[in-house]
Amino acid sequence: MLKTKLSLALILFFISFSNSLLAQEKLNAFFPGKIWKDNNGVHINAHGGGIVEYKGTYYWYGEHKIEGEKGNTAQVGVHCYSSKDLYNWKDEGIALAVSDDLKSDIAKGCILERPKVVYNKKTKKFVMWFHLELLGKGYEAARAGVAVADKATGPYTFIKSYRPNAGKMPFYASGTPLTEQVNCDKPANKSDGFFCRDLPGGQMARDMTVFVDDDGKAYHIFSSEENFTLHLAELTPDYLSHTGKFIRIYVGHQTEAPALFKKDGTYYMVGSGCTGWAPNPARWFKSKSIFGPWEFMGNPCEGEKSNITYGGQSTHVLPAPGKKGEFIFMADKWEPKNAIDGRYLWLPVKFDKGDIKISWLDKWDLSIFK
Ligand code: DGJ
Repeated sequence: MLKTKLSLALILFFISFSNSLLAQEKLNAFFPGKIWKDNNGVHINAHGGGIVEYKGTYYWYGEHKIEGEKGNTAQVGVHCYSSKDLYNWKDEGIALAVSDDLKSDIAKGCILERPKVVYNKKTKKFVMWFHLELLGKGYEAARAGVAVADKATGPYTFIKSYRPNAGKMPFYASGTPLTEQVNCDKPANKSDGFFCRDLPGGQMARDMTVFVDDDGKAYHIFSSEENFTLHLAELTPDYLSHTGKFIRIYVGHQTEAPALFKKDGTYYMVGSGCTGWAPNPARWFKSKSIFGPWEFMGNPCEGEKSNITYGGQSTHVLPAPGKKGEFIFMADKWEPKNAIDGRYLWLPVKFDKGDIKISWLDKWDLSIFK
């Protein structure tokens, strides 16, 4: 009897040992564009994502895609992974689940894109913002959604979705000539027209990110005005609403996929053009103040395929762990025909006399940063 028990234990031990070997070899580098396996040996499913660091652990949140063309709709929710080193990621499950209630704003099958989580030090809550499109309405709703959790990994509770800043005019620095300000009595261009159309009900909010400044204030940056113009909008101290103070950036030039970061008191933003799931040239901006003026600086990418961001589109820029003033550019290589196969392009950001540069690397690790 004892012998049988022992051999059973041995068999079980070997099964779990070989499973763990099969599960995932430990990574010590980034391989942009390649399959990136989690601790279970499964390709990471966190597209259009962002990362928050909390107490030495990194949490990566992104859109959980499924196989096939339907895969770009939210059939599951927002997936979360955790890591200590940014190379090896543990599956933490679904942080925000879509709802089976068809009346819910986040009903299964809606479009829920580019989730970004920030930690609010005052309320001690994790706050998730995302771009939300209501079930069956294509990209017409253009809403911002917000959810909240006590733990980084969730579960997140959905709070509300809406179009921001209803009835509010943009903030302009004193001295801004009237000719540079939107005038809803006489909109000067197409984008101004969309802005004025949406003034009563709130501004459209699609591709987005959230940025927390050194003073703890948070900002929601999103493609608005039928994707023609970016808005950068201040959030309330609890990060759960908009204060009504916002600016418009690069009016009429169709910027998507914004990702913000700050180095030595200067604000940087990387984004893309607007060509659906197809890649286009990245673009970057810089500003001395969060409320602008934001200067358009061109394409930060260099070398082969820099005209299509190496096949990707920006989603987040992450401060490199333990390397002050160094950053990682994160992009998605979308696979619209089989969304779950989308890949991740992470590349180091280089600083060159006030400019930023991004170059392709097949393989790299954090020792690249001085
Ligand atoms: C590009 C955006 O960046 C994505 O998040 C997604 O909205 C697609 N367009 C949809 O075509």
